[in-house]
Amino acid sequence: RISSLALVCCSLPLGKYTTEELYVRFRFGKADIEYLVNLLRPKLQHRTQRSHSLSVEDQILIALRFYACGTFYQVVGHYMGVVKSAVCDVVRDVSIALASLVNEFVSFSKDNQIAQAKCSFFLLGNMPNTIGAIDCTHEFINRKGRHSINVQLVCDADLIITNCVVKLHGAYPLLPCLMTPFLTANTPAQARFNSAHCRARCAIERLNGVLKRRFACLNYLRAEPQKACNITLACIVLHNIATKRNVPLRADNDAPEPLGDPNQPPAFCQNKQTRRATRDAIVRHYF
Ligand SMILES: *[C@@H]1O[C@H](CO)[C@@H](O)[C@H](O)[C@H]1NC(C)=O
Repeated sequence: RISSLALVCCSLPLGKYTTEELYVRFRFGKADIEYLVNLLRPKLQHRTQRSHSLSVEDQILIALRFYACGTFYQVVGHYMGVVKSAVCDVVRDVSIALASLVNEFVSFSKDNQIAQAKCSFFLLGNMPNTIGAIDCTHEFINRKGRHSINVQLVCDADLIITNCVVKLHGAYPLLPCLMTPFLTANTPAQARFNSAHCRARCAIERLNGVLKRRFACLNYLRAEPQKACNITLACIVLHNIATKRNVPLRADNDAPEPLGDPNQPPAFCQNKQTRRATRDAIVRHYF
């Protein structure tokens, strides 16, 4: 590998890594990376000329390495044998290419899958009529906390992200039918509702843990705000691809666990009375 460090455009054949190394370094296996290369080729190929003559496969490996370890461009460049500015360009281009696929890979359950989605949530913890768990966070993208981006995620019981909003500023859009737990449960039925709610909410907590273990760059994005949004969207698309393809999550990913208070219900705005009435009806019917 030493010799390749000096090269600006080197070839990074997938074959030089063992399967285990691929998962540890890039979070994906050989077939998955080939899938990504084919998926993104139309979007990245024309950039090949100006992007330091890197092949589509090289570009994808460089970007995956960045998402996986979240370290400085220079460190990624040193590891991959390319200059820092090339890593910066490649991460931008691959992120834009992946982010442009968000509508293809992130969507609410289609009508014919809703029953299945509800069933999976019910099996998870007896929460009825639930098709998604939601979480809204501010991801700080510089250490002084001067910039943050809003990330709102909805996931299903299998940790597939079904809706996402990644924005620099501004309010989260309203979503219908959001259920929060009772602040204090006054009846056994309300207590059962709260327990079921908590188990269902675990899905989104687990999703956040998986996302940040898989793509350590999300723990602290050193990028200007718009680029940070694009990188976040790229990781969301990659997460769904990984989950649908059953890509294993290795335990040796040592990224820190995300911060956040799991007891804190997500913030949102919705007509309080309607929400309470619906929740009471659910408790009467199911708990
Ligand atoms: C982010 O992505 C959009 C396209 O979705 C692109 O126009 C914009 O230039 C990107 N910004 C950065 C800084 O990469």
